This record gives sequence, C-alpha cells and structure tokens, in this order.
Amino acid sequence: MAEDQNAAKRLKRIGVVTGGGDCPGLNAVIRAVVLGALNRGWEVYGIERGFEGLLHPERVYLLSPQDVRGIIHTGGTILGTTNRGNPFKLQVQEDGFPSDLTHQPEIDVSDAIAAAFHQLQLESLVVIGGDGTLTIANDLAQKGINVVGVPKTIDNDLMATEMTFGFSTAVTTATDAIDKLHATAASHERVMIVEVMGRYAGWIALYSGIAGGADVILLPEIPYKLDAIARKLHDRWLRKRNFAIIVVAEGALPVGGEMTFKKPEDGGERRLGGIAEKLAEDLHKLTGYETRSLVLGHLQRGGQPTAADRLLATRLGAAAVRAVERGEKNVMVAYQSSTVITVPLASAITGRKLVPREYDVITSARELGISFGDE
Ligand code: F6P
Repeated sequence: MAEDQNAAKRLKRIGVVTGGGDCPGLNAVIRAVVLGALNRGWEVYGIERGFEGLLHPERVYLLSPQDVRGIIHTGGTILGTTNRGNPFKLQVQEDGFPSDLTHQPEIDVSDAIAAAFHQLQLESLVVIGGDGTLTIANDLAQKGINVVGVPKTIDNDLMATEMTFGFSTAVTTATDAIDKLHATAASHERVMIVEVMGRYAGWIALYSGIAGGADVILLPEIPYKLDAIARKLHDRWLRKRNFAIIVVAEGALPVGGEMTFKKPEDGGERRLGGIAEKLAEDLHKLTGYETRSLVLGHLQRGGQPTAADRLLATRLGAAAVRAVERGEKNVMVAYQSSTVITVPLASAITGRKLVPREYDVITSARELGISFGDE
C-alpha cells in the first residue's frame, strides 16, 4: 500500500493531445489536466494538431501554468486539432506534414508515433477526442501507448458516457438562433427551417428544438413523412399561428429515403448537409407556405463554453489525471449517474449513442404538441 502511494507520487511525465473536430470546453479539459498534473509535481507535454504532432519535435512542448491561464472560458483548443490525422493512414505532403488535400499517398506512421511516445518517456497520453480519435487511440494502445481518453463531441453520441462536454454549448447556440428566428418567422408568416449538427444522432436537434419552442423536430432516429409535417403546418395556420419553426438534424431522413450529403468539393469524404434546403423546397411545393432555411454549421462548435460544459470538462480532465495516478491504462473517463468514472476505452467506441425512440424527452415533447414528422 505504502509502495503504491510512493509510486503514485513519483514524477510522472504525461502528454495531452486533442483530435478531431474542435469543441467548446477543450481548453477547460486541457487546463484541468495541466493544473491537476503540475500540482502533483508531474510534467505535461502538449502535443499540437493531433497524434502526428508527436513526430515533429517543434510541436511537442512542456506546458506550464501560464499556458493554461485564462482559457477556461475560451472556445477552440490551444493545442490545435485536425480530423485528417489518422496515423495509421496519414496523408502527407512532400515536406512530411499532414495534408488537407485528398489523393495524397497514405502512410502508416503508427510505429513512429509509439516510438516518439516512448522516447519522450511519457507514462500516459491523455487523448481528448470523439469516436474517431478514440478509435485511433485504442489502436495506438495496442502499440504500447498508455491512453486515458476524455470524451469530446458536440454531438453527444459517444457510448459509455451520458454526456459529452461541448453538447451544452452547441444546444445553447442553436437555441439562441431558434429564439431569433421566431421573430422573423412570425413577422413574415413563414416556415423557418434550421439545420443543426449531430451527424447520425439527433441530440442537438431534440434539445435545442424543445428549448427553442420548435413546432417540428426532425431526427435521424425518427424518419419523417412530408405529409405529416404538412399537416402540422396546416394545423398551425388553421389556429391562426401563421408561422412555424422546424429544427432538423443534419442526419434526418424521410421514411424510405436517404440522408442528405454535400458534394465533396475536393473529392474527399462526403459530409452530411443540405437537408434544410431540400425540405424547404419540398414543403413549399406541397403546402404553398413561404419557407426559408438556414444551416447553423460550425457556429455550434465555436464560442465560449457554457458553465455546464466548463464544469463537465474540468471534472473529466481532473479525473483523467486521477486515472493516470492510479495507473489505469486504456480507459476513458465517463460521466455516468452524476459522477465521473472510468470505463474501458473500447466500450466507448463500439457503436453510437442514438436518441432512444421511447425517450421520456420525446414523449414529453409529443404531449406538448411538437411533431416529429412521423404521425
Ligand atoms: O462531430 C462533430 C461535427 O461537428 C458534426 O456534428 C459534423 O457533422 C461534423 O463534425 C463536421 O465536421 P467538419 O469539421 O469536417 O466540418
């Protein structure tokens, strides 16, 4: 026992990295990791722009309390990030830096990443990321990198954690936008359709739609029928409520139809997007009501994190340091039943946490007359 305690107190050197899309609260996690570790007398190396930063000495540096001063309320990540940084198939330019262009040769630099981790004598790597980044982290764990994951995504779709930081801020941003749309929708007697992020899960649409008082909420989990939405609109006009707000998740789809994707400009991976515009056209044709659409896009990823996200991010970051202290490996810190625990990293990346159709939030919304476009 005494030996265990001494081991925990010995100088540790850890790394911290952010990967995937940015997300409000990332800086709050970094701050908690750095302060928690430095207060234990450890050293923390910041790794810039994802895992491959480990391969570039100028992108790996010791973090001090000054580096994390005044960042708890800022969006983005002081370490930078990329969603093109999979070390198992890294696309590189001639200068060896990762490329944002597609059709570049792919190389596997995972062994070099593992070697760099050991050369730096890091004990653990705190990886702050969503399912893509944590999947890579899990694969790197097989190469001997001790990983402690921190779940990050505005989409809230990660398994094994009831909540991810960033979600509250995204919902708040979307709700603010819906609040603003109400006035213009009512003034012009229009149907306003707002497309929110979330990939294949409808969490942001559901929560912001309810908080913003939307009339129709469309989720990937509940395919919609155009005529059911039209009935809801007619009903509002009959009751002299001559406007409507529709919140649509980017992954929403009609019954028997498909999700809507944007054409990749650069021949790269296709991305969800465009459902609001399509729906506006379809609904206008069907009902004759004037419709307008807007896509909130990356606004949902920016801005100051809400107090709730700062708190969750801080708890997760501090818990990640405790996990390192206990010698836990290849785990993820997770928020469950109002507390932060650790779960096996692998359990976070098997599948996707979708909105359950029988969720009480959906039942409550239906009871208030909100349509999900399905009945
Ligand atoms: O996963 C977060 C997210 O913002 C999704 O909601 C969205 O579909 C996607 O990332 C957009 O990613 P990109 O950074 O490639 O535009």
